[in-house]
Amino acid sequence: MIKKCLFPAAGYGTRFLPATKAVPKEMLPILTKPLLQYGVEEALSANINNMAIVTGRGKRSIEDHFDNSLELESQLSGTSKEYYLDEIKEVIERATFTYVRQHKMLGLGHAILTGEPLIGNEPFAVILADDFFDCSGDGVISQLVKIYEKYQCSVIAIEEIDSTQVERYGIVTGDLIDGSDDTYSVTSMLEKPKLHDLIKPEEYELSSDDMPRFMAIAGRYILTPDIFSILKKINPGKHGEIQITDALKIQARAGKVIAFKYKGNRFDCGSIEGYVKATISLAKKRNII
Ligand code: G1P
Repeated sequence: MIKKCLFPAAGYGTRFLPATKAVPKEMLPILTKPLLQYGVEEALSANINNMAIVTGRGKRSIEDHFDNSLELESQLSGTSKEYYLDEIKEVIERATFTYVRQHKMLGLGHAILTGEPLIGNEPFAVILADDFFDCSGDGVISQLVKIYEKYQCSVIAIEEIDSTQVERYGIVTGDLIDGSDDTYSVTSMLEKPKLHDLIKPEEYELSSDDMPRFMAIAGRYILTPDIFSILKKINPGKHGEIQITDALKIQARAGKVIAFKYKGNRFDCGSIEGYVKATISLAKKRNII
Protein backbone atom coordinates (compact mmCIF):
# COMPACT_ATOMS: atom_id res chain seq x y z
CA MET A 1 0.00 0.00 0.00
CA ILE A 2 1.31 3.44 -0.92
CA LYS A 3 0.04 5.88 1.71
CA LYS A 4 2.29 8.90 1.28
CA CYS A 5 3.16 11.24 -1.53
CA LEU A 6 6.17 13.54 -1.54
CA PHE A 7 6.05 16.88 -3.35
CA PRO A 8 9.41 18.57 -3.88
CA ALA A 9 8.36 22.22 -3.94
CA ALA A 10 11.40 24.22 -2.93
CA GLY A 11 12.66 25.42 -6.33
CA TYR A 12 12.94 29.08 -7.28
CA GLY A 13 10.83 29.04 -10.44
CA THR A 14 13.32 31.36 -12.08
CA ARG A 15 11.79 30.97 -15.53
CA PHE A 16 8.54 32.51 -14.29
CA LEU A 17 10.02 35.62 -12.70
CA PRO A 18 8.73 38.10 -11.77
CA ALA A 19 5.52 36.07 -11.14
CA THR A 20 7.43 33.72 -8.84
CA LYS A 21 9.20 36.40 -6.82
CA ALA A 22 6.71 36.16 -3.95
CA VAL A 23 4.47 33.34 -5.23
CA PRO A 24 5.84 29.77 -5.26
CA LYS A 25 5.87 28.33 -8.78
CA GLU A 26 3.81 25.39 -7.50
CA MET A 27 1.04 27.88 -6.70
CA LEU A 28 0.76 29.20 -10.27
CA PRO A 29 -2.73 28.34 -11.48
CA ILE A 30 -3.94 26.44 -14.49
CA LEU A 31 -7.29 28.24 -14.83
CA THR A 32 -8.32 28.69 -11.18
CA LYS A 33 -6.40 25.90 -9.46
CA PRO A 34 -2.73 25.90 -8.42
CA LEU A 35 -0.47 23.29 -9.99
CA LEU A 36 0.18 21.78 -6.59
CA GLN A 37 -3.51 21.22 -5.93
CA TYR A 38 -3.82 19.23 -9.16
CA GLY A 39 -0.94 17.09 -7.89
CA VAL A 40 -2.59 16.58 -4.49
CA GLU A 41 -5.86 15.62 -6.19
CA GLU A 42 -3.99 13.13 -8.37
CA ALA A 43 -2.52 11.51 -5.23
CA LEU A 44 -5.95 11.44 -3.57
CA SER A 45 -7.45 9.73 -6.60
CA ALA A 46 -4.84 6.99 -6.09
CA ASN A 47 -6.07 6.62 -2.47
CA ILE A 48 -2.98 8.32 -1.11
CA ASN A 49 -4.01 10.66 1.68
CA ASN A 50 -0.75 11.73 3.24
CA MET A 51 0.92 14.66 1.50
CA ALA A 52 4.54 15.35 2.44
CA ILE A 53 5.65 18.67 1.03
CA VAL A 54 9.27 19.79 0.85
CA THR A 55 9.19 23.56 0.84
CA GLY A 56 11.72 26.33 1.15
CA ARG A 57 11.95 30.00 1.92
CA GLY A 58 9.07 32.09 0.64
CA LYS A 59 6.71 29.13 0.31
CA ARG A 60 4.42 29.80 3.23
CA SER A 61 1.41 30.36 0.97
CA ILE A 62 1.46 26.61 0.22
CA GLU A 63 0.65 25.88 3.87
CA ASP A 64 -2.04 28.54 3.91
CA HIS A 65 -3.61 27.15 0.76
CA PHE A 66 -4.06 23.70 2.28
CA ASP A 67 -5.61 25.06 5.47
CA ASN A 68 -9.02 26.46 6.33
CA SER A 69 -9.46 30.16 5.79
CA LEU A 70 -11.98 31.05 8.48
CA GLU A 71 -12.27 34.66 7.35
CA LEU A 72 -12.98 33.73 3.75
CA GLU A 73 -15.39 31.00 4.78
CA SER A 74 -17.41 33.28 7.01
CA GLN A 75 -17.45 35.97 4.30
CA LEU A 76 -18.79 33.56 1.68
CA SER A 77 -20.99 31.47 3.96
CA GLY A 78 -24.64 31.64 2.91
CA THR A 79 -23.85 33.59 -0.28
CA SER A 80 -24.08 32.41 -3.88
CA LYS A 81 -20.28 32.30 -4.01
CA GLU A 82 -19.87 29.69 -1.30
CA TYR A 83 -19.33 26.89 -3.79
CA TYR A 84 -16.06 28.46 -5.01
CA LEU A 85 -14.40 26.99 -1.94
CA ASP A 86 -15.91 23.49 -2.28
CA GLU A 87 -13.05 21.86 -4.18
CA ILE A 88 -10.26 23.00 -1.88
CA LYS A 89 -12.33 22.25 1.23
CA GLU A 90 -12.79 18.68 0.05
CA VAL A 91 -9.03 18.32 -0.48
CA ILE A 92 -8.34 19.68 3.02
CA GLU A 93 -10.85 17.27 4.54
CA ARG A 94 -9.50 14.20 2.77
CA ALA A 95 -5.76 14.78 2.99
CA THR A 96 -3.26 15.41 5.75
CA PHE A 97 -0.29 17.67 5.08
CA THR A 98 3.15 17.63 6.59
CA TYR A 99 5.98 19.98 5.69
CA VAL A 100 9.72 20.15 5.90
CA ARG A 101 11.99 22.89 4.65
CA GLN A 102 14.92 22.34 2.35
CA HIS A 103 17.51 24.88 3.45
CA LYS A 104 19.86 24.55 0.50
CA MET A 105 18.99 23.91 -3.14
CA LEU A 106 21.17 20.89 -3.76
CA GLY A 107 19.03 19.14 -6.37
CA LEU A 108 15.94 16.96 -6.74
CA GLY A 109 17.60 13.98 -5.04
CA HIS A 110 18.49 16.18 -2.08
CA ALA A 111 14.92 17.53 -1.93
CA ILE A 112 13.59 13.96 -1.80
CA LEU A 113 16.12 13.05 0.89
CA THR A 114 15.00 16.11 2.88
CA GLY A 115 11.53 14.52 2.93
CA GLU A 116 12.75 11.34 4.62
CA PRO A 117 11.53 12.31 8.14
CA LEU A 118 8.03 12.77 6.69
CA ILE A 119 8.06 9.43 4.85
CA GLY A 120 9.91 7.01 7.10
CA ASN A 121 10.57 3.43 6.07
CA GLU A 122 7.83 2.79 3.53
CA PRO A 123 7.39 3.03 -0.25
CA PHE A 124 6.05 6.40 -1.40
CA ALA A 125 4.95 8.34 -4.44
CA VAL A 126 6.68 11.46 -5.76
CA ILE A 127 4.91 14.14 -7.78
CA LEU A 128 6.75 16.97 -9.52
CA ALA A 129 3.85 19.38 -9.69
CA ASP A 130 5.21 21.33 -12.64
CA ASP A 131 4.63 18.28 -14.82
CA PHE A 132 0.90 18.61 -15.38
CA PHE A 133 -1.02 15.64 -16.79
CA ASP A 134 -4.36 15.40 -18.48
CA CYS A 135 -5.51 11.78 -18.38
CA SER A 136 -8.86 10.53 -19.59
CA GLY A 137 -8.72 7.48 -17.31
CA ASP A 138 -6.65 6.89 -14.18
CA GLY A 139 -4.16 9.56 -13.13
CA VAL A 140 -0.48 8.78 -13.65
CA ILE A 141 0.17 7.98 -9.97
CA SER A 142 -2.72 5.48 -9.97
CA GLN A 143 -1.19 3.87 -13.06
CA LEU A 144 2.19 3.59 -11.30
CA VAL A 145 0.66 2.24 -8.08
CA LYS A 146 -0.83 -0.66 -10.07
CA ILE A 147 2.61 -1.48 -11.47
CA TYR A 148 4.15 -1.17 -8.00
CA GLU A 149 1.60 -3.62 -6.59
CA LYS A 150 2.71 -6.16 -9.16
CA TYR A 151 6.51 -5.74 -8.99
CA GLN A 152 7.11 -4.26 -5.49
CA CYS A 153 10.04 -2.11 -6.61
CA SER A 154 10.61 1.49 -7.68
CA VAL A 155 8.50 2.57 -10.67
CA ILE A 156 8.97 5.61 -12.89
CA ALA A 157 6.68 7.16 -15.48
CA ILE A 158 8.26 7.52 -18.89
CA GLU A 159 7.38 8.83 -22.33
CA GLU A 160 9.01 8.63 -25.74
CA ILE A 161 10.87 11.72 -26.93
CA ASP A 162 13.02 12.53 -29.94
CA SER A 163 16.75 13.14 -29.99
CA THR A 164 16.45 16.93 -29.80
CA GLN A 165 14.99 16.78 -26.29
CA VAL A 166 17.31 14.41 -24.43
CA GLU A 167 19.20 17.17 -22.61
CA ARG A 168 16.01 18.20 -20.79
CA TYR A 169 15.20 14.89 -19.09
CA GLY A 170 16.42 11.87 -17.24
CA ILE A 171 16.85 9.25 -19.97
CA VAL A 172 16.13 5.58 -19.35
CA THR A 173 17.26 2.43 -21.13
CA GLY A 174 15.67 -0.91 -20.42
CA ASP A 175 14.18 -4.15 -21.69
CA LEU A 176 10.51 -4.65 -22.32
CA ILE A 177 9.06 -7.08 -19.84
CA ASP A 178 7.82 -10.23 -21.57
CA GLY A 179 4.35 -9.91 -22.99
CA SER A 180 4.16 -6.16 -22.38
CA ASP A 181 4.44 -3.18 -24.70
CA ASP A 182 4.63 -0.44 -22.08
CA THR A 183 6.55 -1.81 -19.07
CA TYR A 184 10.35 -2.00 -18.98
CA SER A 185 12.90 -3.39 -16.61
CA VAL A 186 15.36 -0.50 -16.41
CA THR A 187 19.00 -1.27 -17.07
CA SER A 188 20.49 2.21 -17.03
CA MET A 189 19.67 5.88 -16.62
CA LEU A 190 21.38 9.20 -17.31
CA GLU A 191 20.32 12.63 -16.09
CA LYS A 192 20.05 15.17 -18.91
CA PRO A 193 22.73 13.61 -21.13
CA LYS A 194 24.21 15.02 -24.31
CA LEU A 195 23.08 13.17 -27.43
CA HIS A 196 26.62 11.90 -27.96
CA ASP A 197 26.41 10.08 -24.61
CA LEU A 198 23.53 8.05 -26.04
CA ILE A 199 24.29 7.27 -29.69
CA LYS A 200 27.22 5.97 -31.71
CA PRO A 201 29.23 8.49 -33.80
CA GLU A 202 27.95 7.00 -37.08
CA GLU A 203 24.36 7.59 -35.98
CA TYR A 204 24.99 11.33 -36.02
CA GLU A 205 24.62 11.26 -39.78
CA LEU A 206 21.08 9.89 -39.59
CA SER A 207 18.18 12.08 -40.64
CA SER A 208 15.89 13.14 -37.83
CA ASP A 209 13.32 10.56 -39.04
CA ASP A 210 15.80 7.72 -38.66
CA MET A 211 17.24 8.82 -35.32
CA PRO A 212 16.45 6.46 -32.49
CA ARG A 213 13.80 7.64 -30.04
CA PHE A 214 14.48 7.84 -26.33
CA MET A 215 12.59 7.21 -23.13
CA ALA A 216 12.39 10.21 -20.82
CA ILE A 217 11.41 10.32 -17.17
CA ALA A 218 8.20 12.25 -16.57
CA GLY A 219 7.70 13.77 -13.12
CA ARG A 220 5.98 10.85 -11.36
CA TYR A 221 7.69 8.13 -9.33
CA ILE A 222 7.03 5.38 -6.81
CA LEU A 223 10.17 4.89 -4.73
CA THR A 224 11.12 2.20 -2.27
CA PRO A 225 12.59 3.59 0.97
CA ASP A 226 16.10 2.18 0.41
CA ILE A 227 16.41 5.14 -1.99
CA PHE A 228 17.18 7.32 1.06
CA SER A 229 20.34 5.44 2.05
CA ILE A 230 21.47 5.52 -1.60
CA LEU A 231 20.83 9.28 -1.80
CA LYS A 232 22.97 9.76 1.32
CA LYS A 233 25.90 8.00 -0.35
CA ILE A 234 25.96 9.24 -3.93
CA ASN A 235 28.08 12.12 -5.16
CA PRO A 236 26.66 15.22 -6.81
CA GLY A 237 25.96 14.56 -10.50
CA LYS A 238 24.58 16.77 -13.28
CA HIS A 239 24.88 20.50 -12.47
CA GLY A 240 26.73 19.57 -9.25
CA GLU A 241 23.41 18.47 -7.70
CA ILE A 242 22.28 15.29 -5.96
CA GLN A 243 20.16 13.65 -8.66
CA ILE A 244 17.33 11.18 -8.05
CA THR A 245 18.17 9.67 -11.45
CA ASP A 246 21.65 8.66 -10.17
CA ALA A 247 20.14 7.01 -7.09
CA LEU A 248 17.60 5.13 -9.22
CA LYS A 249 20.40 3.98 -11.49
CA ILE A 250 21.89 2.12 -8.52
CA GLN A 251 18.55 0.43 -7.82
CA ALA A 252 18.27 -0.36 -11.54
CA ARG A 253 21.60 -2.19 -11.49
CA ALA A 254 20.03 -4.58 -9.01
CA GLY A 255 17.00 -4.99 -11.34
CA LYS A 256 14.80 -2.98 -8.98
CA VAL A 257 13.39 -0.26 -11.24
CA ILE A 258 10.45 -0.56 -13.61
CA ALA A 259 9.64 2.13 -16.18
CA PHE A 260 6.06 2.47 -17.36
CA LYS A 261 4.81 4.38 -20.41
CA TYR A 262 1.97 6.29 -18.80
CA LYS A 263 -1.32 6.91 -20.59
CA GLY A 264 -2.16 10.59 -20.82
CA ASN A 265 -0.96 13.99 -22.00
CA ARG A 266 1.85 15.80 -20.24
CA PHE A 267 2.42 19.54 -20.19
CA ASP A 268 5.78 20.79 -18.97
CA CYS A 269 4.55 23.62 -16.79
CA GLY A 270 8.12 24.37 -15.74
CA SER A 271 8.33 26.10 -19.15
CA ILE A 272 6.24 29.05 -20.24
CA GLU A 273 5.26 27.28 -23.46
CA GLY A 274 4.00 24.18 -21.63
CA TYR A 275 2.20 26.28 -19.05
CA VAL A 276 0.36 28.28 -21.69
CA LYS A 277 -0.50 25.13 -23.65
CA ALA A 278 -1.89 23.44 -20.51
CA THR A 279 -4.02 26.49 -19.79
CA ILE A 280 -5.38 26.65 -23.35
CA SER A 281 -6.01 22.91 -23.47
CA LEU A 282 -7.97 22.88 -20.21
CA ALA A 283 -9.87 26.05 -21.14
CA LYS A 284 -10.95 24.46 -24.42
CA LYS A 285 -11.94 21.24 -22.70
CA ARG A 286 -14.14 23.19 -20.31
CA ASN A 287 -15.60 25.30 -23.13
CA ILE A 288 -14.21 28.50 -21.62
CA ILE A 289 -12.66 29.49 -24.95
C1 G1P B 1 13.50 16.46 -13.25
C2 G1P B 1 14.34 15.18 -13.26
C3 G1P B 1 14.42 14.60 -14.66
C4 G1P B 1 13.03 14.39 -15.21
C5 G1P B 1 12.23 15.69 -15.15
C6 G1P B 1 10.78 15.48 -15.55
O1 G1P B 1 14.18 17.47 -13.95
O2 G1P B 1 15.63 15.49 -12.75
O3 G1P B 1 15.10 13.38 -14.62
O4 G1P B 1 13.10 13.93 -16.55
O5 G1P B 1 12.22 16.23 -13.81
O6 G1P B 1 10.10 16.69 -15.60
P1 G1P B 1 13.73 19.02 -13.88
O7 G1P B 1 12.61 19.18 -14.86
O8 G1P B 1 13.29 19.27 -12.47
O9 G1P B 1 14.95 19.80 -14.27
